[in-house]
Amino acid sequence: MKISIIGSGHVGLISGVCFAEKGHEVLCVDHDNEKLAKLRNAEVPFFEPGLPELLKKHHTAKRLRFSDSTAEAVKFGQAIFICVGTPSTERGKADMTYVEKVARDIAETLTDYRLIVEKSTVPIMTGERVKAAIQRYVRAEVHFDVASNPEFLREGSAIEDTLKPDRIVIGVDSGKAETLLREVYAGYECPFVVTSIGSAELIKHASNSFLALKISFINWVSRLCERTGADVNEVAKGMGLDHRIGPHFLHAGIGYGGSCFPKDVEALAHISEDLGIDASPIRMISTLNKGQADRFHDRLEKELWVLKDKTLAIWGLAFKPNTDDIREAPALSLVQRLIKDGAKLRVHDPVAMPAVRKQHPDLYYAKDPLDATSGADALLVCTEWPVYREADLAKVKANLRVPIIFDGRNCLDRKRAGDLGLTLIGVGKPDVRPKK
Ligand code: UDX
Repeated sequence: MKISIIGSGHVGLISGVCFAEKGHEVLCVDHDNEKLAKLRNAEVPFFEPGLPELLKKHHTAKRLRFSDSTAEAVKFGQAIFICVGTPSTERGKADMTYVEKVARDIAETLTDYRLIVEKSTVPIMTGERVKAAIQRYVRAEVHFDVASNPEFLREGSAIEDTLKPDRIVIGVDSGKAETLLREVYAGYECPFVVTSIGSAELIKHASNSFLALKISFINWVSRLCERTGADVNEVAKGMGLDHRIGPHFLHAGIGYGGSCFPKDVEALAHISEDLGIDASPIRMISTLNKGQADRFHDRLEKELWVLKDKTLAIWGLAFKPNTDDIREAPALSLVQRLIKDGAKLRVHDPVAMPAVRKQHPDLYYAKDPLDATSGADALLVCTEWPVYREADLAKVKANLRVPIIFDGRNCLDRKRAGDLGLTLIGVGKPDVRPKK
């Protein structure tokens, strides 16, 4: 089938590449010429494991092409997926400018039946809005359908998530739209959930907010652990073995970040308030999340007393491992706060340093994790990259001026740290301290 994708970011590009992998012919559109130049050369515009190989494969096979023209996309694809960004406005609402513009652009060149599918994370009732916008601007008497097909991929495992999803959700209001989307997803071995357009839109928002809630809940439990001497990992394990709860997204730490959870939780709060529904349970999710970063900073101050002029090593800048994305990264807000405190930072991240350097050119960017720790008064672990989990703690201890580690992701080997006489302060866990 011929498929067009409008917006070649994390969702659009990964979807395009994966549709090509499933045998479809794909045209991806973007308005960013710099990005397009790269893509036309089969170069990836962001870090995502497995993406370079698939992009090259389907570029060479000519199953995947790139364009800057929405008109070309409308002509090309039987199904047109809208994958443009829906960033937060200052008030925390989803900014629908790009989606609306794409809807108008599609309408301008629509001459035959097309299925227009919204894949961007959008507020409830966007499907209706897209439909109305196209109807308003369409030039001819053309039949078209609008559908919702939310995307659940995670950065860092996006290819795997897209090729082998837990479920595919499609929101449709016509048999033709359902048939076409079943054709798009023929060959996927997972439950296919067919709903109304509104339900599909809400499934996405509710899923993201529920996952964020799970993280905020366990982070709240971690506070109880810190007061009572309990261990949050033990608590999470005991909870997660209950099938009704499940073990995932119960990893306590310095909070969630990324391009989705912070924005989507805010947006859902706004949507519910606009609908006259009390949003306090949703608002609590982000309040807890922000509080988690504050608590980590408080622990630093409590332990190190004065942060001004302290040299601090930071491991991990990306919002999670296996990505170079620093949007809403808890590590980055901590860096900004520590800069204000007057600390001297030696930072390291396997792939996200170039992105941070653009915003903070004056930090020391370490050539490897150990280099970051040289002469530091403490080490702060903010992202649980495997390279940090596997680090040689004896060498870390030898490098640090003061052997204190703040493990914001509970990813280091506590037993080894204890054996080495390190001080290790985690989240929701008893401190590891050298025996006197
Ligand atoms: C998320 C959703 O998982 C995905 O379905 C949706 O399509 C987009 O948003 P993503 O933002 O890529 O995906 O990353 P995810 O793995 O969900 O992690 C989000 C944040 O939560 C990260 O900062 C991560 O460190 C944090 N997290 C995750 C925790 O703090 N604890 C956990 O147990 C899990």
